[in-house]
Amino acid sequence: MSAPRTVDVGGDAPYRIEIGPGLLADGARLTTHARGRHALLLTDSHVAPLYAAAVEAALRDARPELRVAIHVMPAGEAHKTLASFGAVIDALAALGATRDATVYALGGGVVGDLAGFAAACWMRGVDCVQLPTTLLSMVDSSVGGKTAVDIPQGKNLVGAFHPPRAVFADTAALRTLPPRELRAGLTEVIKYGAIRDPRFFEWLDTEREALLAGDHRAPAEAIARSCEHKAGIVERDPLEKGERALLNLGHTFGHAIEAEQGYSGDDRDALVHGEAVAVGMVLPSARLSARLGMAPDADTQRLRSLLLDYGLPVDVPAGLAPDALLARMRLDKKNLAGRLRLVLWRGIGRAEVVPDVDEAQVLEVLGTR
Ligand SMILES: NC(=O)c1ccc[n+]([C@@H]2O[C@H](COP(=O)([O-])OP(=O)(O)OC[C@H]3O[C@@H](n4cnc5c(N)ncnc54)[C@H](O)[C@@H]3O)[C@@H](O)[C@H]2O)c1
Repeated sequence: MSAPRTVDVGGDAPYRIEIGPGLLADGARLTTHARGRHALLLTDSHVAPLYAAAVEAALRDARPELRVAIHVMPAGEAHKTLASFGAVIDALAALGATRDATVYALGGGVVGDLAGFAAACWMRGVDCVQLPTTLLSMVDSSVGGKTAVDIPQGKNLVGAFHPPRAVFADTAALRTLPPRELRAGLTEVIKYGAIRDPRFFEWLDTEREALLAGDHRAPAEAIARSCEHKAGIVERDPLEKGERALLNLGHTFGHAIEAEQGYSGDDRDALVHGEAVAVGMVLPSARLSARLGMAPDADTQRLRSLLLDYGLPVDVPAGLAPDALLARMRLDKKNLAGRLRLVLWRGIGRAEVVPDVDEAQVLEVLGTR
């Protein structure tokens, strides 16, 4: 195995992201940060049959004294709940996990967010090592320490900031990822270009075939560059008091779509997270910015075309009412003093937080196609 690419995340609790093929079988690397004798491997029902046995064997081979338990949750956003959180806590208790235990999160963002939240809470905080297996989790959710579960009132409303001890992104795992999930992850990659890096945005335009074909080089480059952007932002603003909010471009609206759909993960017509964010980046973010005279409409069109070229949706799914979506947006954690606070942009690479967006303008944009 060639040496993995690395991205270091600084701040009060620094950690390293390693990116490359074969990392999930590298027990010596995976156990570098395991301080104690207990490890809980949390994964989901899709990922478990593909990778859990290999990871468990790698952990045991590297550290025979480690007591490893596997906990498999049902796959899908619908299970990122307080009930699933309770089940993980029960698994930690059954393992007899002590304060030096490690929770390994093997899966996508759902597993990563849930594992991170359980690790944040068990004995007021044990280590979490992220082993992301979706593109979205490699470029976004495994980095930065935001952990959460959903409740019926909204996404990620219960959670904690709990940075991981380490992140190992095994690019070989992307080979088994359904193409739809790969494309959904590319939304978050495109987001970094849209927020702050016009050259990366252009690179994504030219590397489309290589990225969708799933060889190792282009995805590893896209993951590393995305992680560098995220690492820089979370280092400067770990608790999202300013710049970090930019990472939510498209998310307020994306979350509203997901909540209106009822997190119906097994419903094939429902948009998955990355797809909902793609719709949110175009509409209302870019389109609203153009309507408010903040950004050229040509940039909205470029974003729209790039997302379409990657096979991503850009329109609100039929049947979702604009006023219901707006009501969901009002619940967003970024809002302050009852005012709608959105991430808009001044064009490609120049996102900014707008603190008091006129709801009537949002409704108008939501009503257009
Ligand atoms: N914490 C953060 O900062 C942050 C950032 C962005 C998103 N998120 C969260 O991440 C979640 C979305 O993550 P996601 O898109 O990874 O969804 P996900 O975890 O549901 O994974 C998508 C699907 O792919 C399957 N899967 C995962 N890896 C696979 C592989 N290698 N091969 C085959 N199948 C595989 C999963 O079982 C699931 O069915 C949302 O809950 C979102 O809120 C969190």
